[in-house]
Amino acid sequence: MAFGQRGVRSTRRFTPSGVGQGETFTVVDLFGDPAPSEDNDEENRQSYAGLTQEVFCENYRRVHDELPAIVRGPSTVMTDRLAHAACRFAHIDAGHLFEQVRADLLDTRTLLAAQGIVVADDWRTIHAPGVSAALWELVANHGLSPICVSSMKFYATWGDATPYLEALDRWLATTDPRAFDVRRDRVHGRPITMLTDGHITSRRDGPGTARWLWGEVKRRL
Ligand SMILES: C[S@@+](CC[C@H](N)C(=O)[O-])C[C@H]1O[C@@H](n2cnc3c(N)ncnc32)[C@H](O)[C@@H]1O
Repeated sequence: MAFGQRGVRSTRRFTPSGVGQGETFTVVDLFGDPAPSEDNDEENRQSYAGLTQEVFCENYRRVHDELPAIVRGPSTVMTDRLAHAACRFAHIDAGHLFEQVRADLLDTRTLLAAQGIVVADDWRTIHAPGVSAALWELVANHGLSPICVSSMKFYATWGDATPYLEALDRWLATTDPRAFDVRRDRVHGRPITMLTDGHITSRRDGPGTARWLWGEVKRRL
């Protein structure tokens, strides 16, 4: 799980290039420590053995000169560790079981600034049905507004998604139409844009969307 807030830096796969002066990028992970529940421990043994703090730092240093602020512990501590309503960007990628993802997502409602963006990884993978279940339940019943999805990431806000959707449309209008396959839908009454790999490059999807959204967040907050 990773949070960008005023006063931050970024992870291996989530590396917004424009973290501003005076901002902090905070990463939280158990890094092999005991989890808050037995099913969480089991998940970690099955899927994340070997993701130690040392490995994380080694990977991170391949991309950045300085390490982010690192919190070693359960993701639930973040509402005590970070200022509330101050984060611009939160990337959720800790425990993938339904109750954990739901709790992590709800915590972003506390931590994000009004128009902050929350991104969930693995929103549609076979091994993590709880991620999509949590996301759609929060969309249906708790006011989470989707913005767009790429093959791996689900982008949303607890604020008003309209300016992001409009800006996304404007951005797509200036983008080579072969870069993305663009589809639209309304889910639980909320509009959502689906961006999947186009023909010109298979690497364009997640990173391109992430870079654009990070720019939008920086402009708006
Ligand atoms: C899919 S990995 C993602 C790691 C990191 N986002 C990356 O891309 O390198 C999931 C991570 O969640 C951590 N994790 C699992 N349960 C957690 C919890 N309750 N609190 C904090 N981290 C947790 C695991 O230790 C593991 O490193």
